[in-house]
This record gives sequence, structure tokens and C-alpha cells, in this order.
Amino acid sequence: MNVKKIAKIVSVVVGVAFVLMQFIQPNRTNPEIDQSKTLQTELNVPTDIVALLNRGCKDCHSNQTTWPFYSYVAPASWLVSYDVMEGRKHFNMSEWGKYKLSKKASKLSGIYQAVNDRSMPLPKYIPLHPEANLTDTERNQLAVWAQKEAEKLMGGGAE
Ligand code: HEC
Repeated sequence: MNVKKIAKIVSVVVGVAFVLMQFIQPNRTNPEIDQSKTLQTELNVPTDIVALLNRGCKDCHSNQTTWPFYSYVAPASWLVSYDVMEGRKHFNMSEWGKYKLSKKASKLSGIYQAVNDRSMPLPKYIPLHPEANLTDTERNQLAVWAQKEAEKLMGGGAE
């Protein structure tokens, strides 16, 4: 076989594989939300903090994910779905009411930690979502809020 023929076979195989991949659809659901049990409601989160959480965290840490067009095209769809399902499993603002007190406190400290050390929002998310690129001031605002709420829950240094 010559090189041209091999190239043709390879491209057909890759093309068929790509088409077949589209049949494997990942989970892209946004489960129903009880608005009385969300983090926003329970902690009476100020609107400027809600705005930051919406810009930077909501897609992976709530049941209100905006699924982008590439979340419909494999293999990107699998990666996006994986991050959202993992994100929700670790911290879900829409399911906040189901957490025990100690878990709530540890998630709030986790937010403080994650926005300070810049591990969140997930760095790979930011290029495709420029609005999630929180400024240092915004990160600080979010961290201070989370820390204060954690302390309140622990009955420590309440305001
Ligand atoms: C692109 C998806 C994505 C975005 C956006 C995102 N996260 Fe995450 N987050 C994850 C994933 C996945 C994990 C679990 C794996 C890990 O820790 O890296 C996680 C874990 C966490 C944890 C650890 C929870 C625990 O106790 O295990 C915290 C806290 C957190 N994120 C906060 C945030 C905050 C705050 C924002 C917004 C400023 C944010 N995340 C934005 C995907 C995301």
C-alpha cells in the first residue's frame, strides 16, 4: 500500500470513530432546585457575592449549569460533564441545605482557600469563560465573605 492510501484509510477510521463517539452522551442534567435550600437563600448571601459566585463557580457547583455548545460534541462533552459532576459532588450550592453543619463550615473554608490559592475557578475553565477571571479584589471579597460565614457557623468570631 502507498502512503496516500494509508492516509485515506486512517482518515476514514478517525472520521467513523468521531461519529460513533457522538452516540456516547454524558450526563448534562440540571436537577431541580429547592430555592429555600440553596446556599444563596440559607446564608442570605449579599448580591455582590452572589454575582461573583455566578460568574466564577455556578457552572460547576450548582444545578444551574449553562451547558456550552462544545458540551454537546464528544470528546469535549465528556470532559465538561466530568468536571461538572465532580464539582457538584464536592460542593453544590443548590444542595446546600442537605449538608451537615460541619460540612458547611468546611466547604466555606474550602472556598476561602481555593480562591486565595487560585485553584478555583478551575484554571482551564477561565480561557473559555473570561467573566470567571476574578480580579484580586474580587477574590479577596469572596474569601473574606466565606471566612466570615465559616466562623459564624462554627459559633466563633461572629460579626
Ligand atoms: C470548571 C468547573 C469548576 C469551576 C468553574 C469551579 N470549580 Fe470548584 N471544583 C471543581 C471540581 C471538579 C472540584 C473537585 C476536584 C478538585 O478539588 O479539584 C472542585 C472542588 C472545589 C472545592 C473543594 C470542595 C471540597 O470540599 O472537596 C471548592 C471549595 C471549590 N471547588 C470552590 C469553587 C469556587 C469558590 C469556585 C468559583 C470561584 C469554583 N470552585 C469554580 C470544578 C470547578
